[in-house]
Amino acid sequence: MKVFIIGNGGREHAIAEKISNSQSFYKGILYFTRPNAGMETLGHGVDIKPSDLNLLLKFAIEKGIDFTVVGPEQPLALGITDLFRSNGLKIFGPGSTAAMIESSKIFAKELMKEAGIPTADFRAFGKESFNEALNYIRHLSHPVVIKADGLAAGKGVVISESEPESLRYIDSLVNQKVHSVAGERFIVESFLRGEEISVFAVTDGLDYIVLPVAQDHKRIGENDIGPNTGGMGAYTPVSKVVTAELMRKIEDRIIRKTLESLNKSGIVYKGCLYCGLLIDENNNPYVIEFNCRFGDPETQAVLQLIESDFLQLLVASENEEIKNYELVCNSKSACNVVAVSGGYPGDYEKDKRISGLDEATGCKIFHAGTKLSGDGVVTNGGRVLSVTATEDSLHEAIKKAYNCIEKIKFEKMYFRKDIGKKGL
Ligand code: AMP
Ligand code: GLY
Repeated sequence: MKVFIIGNGGREHAIAEKISNSQSFYKGILYFTRPNAGMETLGHGVDIKPSDLNLLLKFAIEKGIDFTVVGPEQPLALGITDLFRSNGLKIFGPGSTAAMIESSKIFAKELMKEAGIPTADFRAFGKESFNEALNYIRHLSHPVVIKADGLAAGKGVVISESEPESLRYIDSLVNQKVHSVAGERFIVESFLRGEEISVFAVTDGLDYIVLPVAQDHKRIGENDIGPNTGGMGAYTPVSKVVTAELMRKIEDRIIRKTLESLNKSGIVYKGCLYCGLLIDENNNPYVIEFNCRFGDPETQAVLQLIESDFLQLLVASENEEIKNYELVCNSKSACNVVAVSGGYPGDYEKDKRISGLDEATGCKIFHAGTKLSGDGVVTNGGRVLSVTATEDSLHEAIKKAYNCIEKIKFEKMYFRKDIGKKGL
């Protein structure tokens, strides 16, 4: 079997590793777009951007690819799965209309409102209703949350503490176009308090399977302070928050309703429905965001708990056979600590030699911003490595992950020291 993986971060390395260990992949070949140094050891690379859909299609046809897995949101929003499917190719992920659940915050919020899915109260605005937005914000008690409508590389959301800050931000969205067209429309929503969790439902549009629940650590600093990042680490399961009763509420009030609502509009959602949820003090779930793909860095941890054939799960989503798939998980805990380049999420330097990778044993090291250079590995991005340990308890998993990451060195390397702590 030939499997093509689009994307080259820690999430895609973890997906590739899991596929390469799937029984159904026996003696298969992996292909990657612009692989990082870790992925290079698992298969073959091709220098095509994930947004170059026509080149990706041409490559997949020429190589006789049997199945393609899309990691990041951008190619999904651009319609890669529609293009591949219309050319008779099998691929994992939603079509571009279904991907609007992530690529348009307004689409997602309107869907939730119509279907009665619990989420923060909101109003949507655009260039034409800028003055209305100013007026609306003046009458709100802060903090409020302002979100650019379109894809903004994780940077479109601001939690604003004051009216002047809100007014400045919407001005920067609409008049200065800081997120180009992604911010010309935006939503203003109420600020919710609680515990955030990430729930992944792999679906074929009708049936779905929920994977072990994870918790991300989005801020750069310990105790969740400082700017948002792509994710500084994650752990699973989230036993302190997630009960069987909560999972029932999440399935009844959110996952099933979302799929039903999409179906009613004639949209078949295949792939991973990522539900970013906030759990309030009464143990009720609210949707903070939907994503149309697996989460990074949660995936690196979540996949360690899956024992059944992972490639088969992805194929079952595409072939509309989820109801026949039996998910088998172990009862372990996994902790993923992300090492980043100093300065990230702001400016940072690249090409720093990474040492200690061979000494960091007992963990899985998923690469993100790395590349081969000479006979070694150097940094090539903000998030560099995901160090993931899987043990019988969360306490042990955290200890093991930190033991490993401390053996790895590169100039100006930084990682949070408290990943998983809130789960203990
Ligand atoms: P998003 O890109 O929509 O996930 O937002 C980024 C982060 O902002 C989320 O992970 C939350 O931590 C925070 N956030 C977003 N919406 C809200 C909200 N309504 N209330 C509180 N925090 C929020
Ligand atoms: N972990 C957050 C995301 O993947 O969007």
